[in-house]
Formats: sequence, structure tokens, C-alpha cells
Amino acid sequence: MKTSTPARVARSAAPLTGQRAHETQAFGSVVPMPIALAEDTRRSSADNLNQLLADAMTLRDLYKKHHWQASGPTFYQLHLLFDKHFNEQSDLVDLIAERIMTLGGVSIAMSADVAETTLIPRPPRGREETPVQLSRLLHAHEIVLKEARAMARKAAEDGDDGTNDLLVSSVIRTNEAQVWFVAEHLVDGPLVHTDGRSAD
Ligand SMILES: [Fe+2]
Repeated sequence: MKTSTPARVARSAAPLTGQRAHETQAFGSVVPMPIALAEDTRRSSADNLNQLLADAMTLRDLYKKHHWQASGPTFYQLHLLFDKHFNEQSDLVDLIAERIMTLGGVSIAMSADVAETTLIPRPPRGREETPVQLSRLLHAHEIVLKEARAMARKAAEDGDDGTNDLLVSSVIRTNEAQVWFVAEHLVDGPLVHTDGRSAD
């Protein structure tokens, strides 16, 4: 039986690092996927979902920024709430990205590409006051909700029920609930004493 030379064994056991090749699929294209949806429909849904994905990733990261940079008397509850919403947004990001791949598209992924694509205004690197953090989050949610509703209607018109369901059942409902939890922190109510006005 023929045995390998020591040099051949060493080469085959070595990790083949540093490899490069051309892309197998260009961003913005869709490959055939046998899910009984026309190519135009799959491309339209994938394009829309990539915009939504960039905005969802930005909102997700905005929550982590504010989780780290929270301050003031409500620090602890907001620190925890922001991380809860970060995790929920992370789950949405994965669902949106994998829906794009299911449609035969290519999901946007890296932060530089996301930064060029998102519609959410860029916050400063430094820290901001709690009401400003909350206002930024609410504005970002409204951008996501507005586009998600329009995209859901388009997907329904095109017969892309899977995308419509993802947008309505997961994206819209989760974002609306998060808005409620954030917005209630901007109600200027008394903490200990009532405002002193009579009820009658
Ligand atoms: Fe943390």
C-alpha cells in the first residue's frame, strides 16, 4: 500500500487560510428559489426587507448604546428595559435576514453597509440625557413601523403571505409594544405626591 510522504501529510493537515474568490451572489440579486413566488415578487420583497433590516439593526444597536450609556434616577430600570428590547430586536433582525435569504436574496450584514442604508438619524458618539435617548428610540421605532406597514401592504398585494405575516405578526407588533414601554417613561407624572388638584 502506498503511504503519504511526511511533507504531504503536513500539507493536508494545514489550515488553508487566506483564501479569496469572487462573490457567488451579488447583493441586490435574487436566485431561483422554489417557493411558488414570481421572481419580481421575491426581488421586491427582498429589496424592501433589506431596507427594513438596516433600520432594525440600527435600532437594535441604538438600544445597546442606551443600555450602556443610561443615567439618572431611572438608570436601573431603563438599563434592563433597553437590553430586553435589544434582545427582541436581535431576534427580529435574524427573522428578517433569513426571510431575505429564503426569498433568494442577499441580506445586508455589515455595519458599514448598514450605516450607508439606514433611514434612522445617526446619534452622537457621546452620552445624552434620558429624555433625549427615549425620544431617539421612539423616532427610530416610528420609521420602522411606517415602512413595515407599507411593506406589509405591498407583500399582501403581491401574494407574498410569508413576508406579510413576518411584518405584521413579528415586526409591527413587537415594535408597537416596545413603543408603549418606552413612551410611558416620557409621561411627566408625580412620583410621590399628587399634583394637589381636587378630583371634583
Ligand atoms: Fe449589559
